[in-house]
Amino acid sequence: MSLSAAKPYLQRIRADFGDDVDFDAYPFSIPAVRDLHGIDFHPDVTFFVGENGSGKSTILEAIALALGFGIEGGTINNRLLNTAGAGSALADRIRMSRSPRRPRDGYFLRAESFHNVATYLDEMDMTTGYGERKLHERSHGEIFLTVLVEKLRGQGLYLFDEPEAALSPNRQLAALSAIHQLVQQQSQFIIVTHSPILLAYPNAKILSFDATGITEVAYEDTEHYAVTRDFLNHYPRRLEQLLAPD
Ligand SMILES: Nc1ncnc2c1ncn2[C@@H]1O[C@H](COP(=O)(O)OP(=O)(O)OP(=O)(O)O)[C@@H](O)[C@H]1O
Ligand SMILES: [Mg+2]
Repeated sequence: MSLSAAKPYLQRIRADFGDDVDFDAYPFSIPAVRDLHGIDFHPDVTFFVGENGSGKSTILEAIALALGFGIEGGTINNRLLNTAGAGSALADRIRMSRSPRRPRDGYFLRAESFHNVATYLDEMDMTTGYGERKLHERSHGEIFLTVLVEKLRGQGLYLFDEPEAALSPNRQLAALSAIHQLVQQQSQFIIVTHSPILLAYPNAKILSFDATGITEVAYEDTEHYAVTRDFLNHYPRRLEQLLAPD
């Protein structure tokens, strides 16, 4: 089999809800979760976008658990505390179609628990491959770019939740370039983001989560693109409107 046939490593997921699911309770009450009849992933990058609370992290975490990542993030082997809970209730119901060729590398980045993973790796002295300096002696953004550039080896399946949270606009551009290099080295990404910069990546599919479920959307039709562009082009006027006294 040629390398190009390997991707997408994760081709498709769907939820098999069975008869015993409570659609009034988290996580099954979330419209995007109820709409998990089938997501087909892009071989390169699939973005999840949507309003705060629309279920992006919930679904990314369930996919990560189903793939064997620890809930705290990190590589497949870094199972810190795989707390069973609401996340795993969904993960248990996720059915995956995968490429016969398995990825050789993997990383699940959860912005909010990156600190724990960095502590763990430092304590276990598992920093080989992260460069010379201990991860805790670096800033948040530096850690993330270090992982992206030095740790990820290619031929990987990478799941990132809001990687832009740590990154300056310039570093987001650097991240785009690093992601592209990894894509060219046969990697696949699933990225939750609010960043209009990251979303511009062309070899991608954007899935928008809202009250009606999950729909594919073009970059220029995303709220992220439209709102950012409108604001930057007209910010004095928009500020007048936003900050006007009642
Ligand atoms: N453990 C939990 N128990 C109950 N409800 C939860 C739990 N975790 C999240 N929720 C709720 O589920 C919904 C989806 O949360 P989720 O974190 O997936 O949103 P999100 O799309 O990632 O949002 P954001 O862009 O703010 O990160 C929210 O309304 C949230 O309050
Ligand atoms: Mg989230």
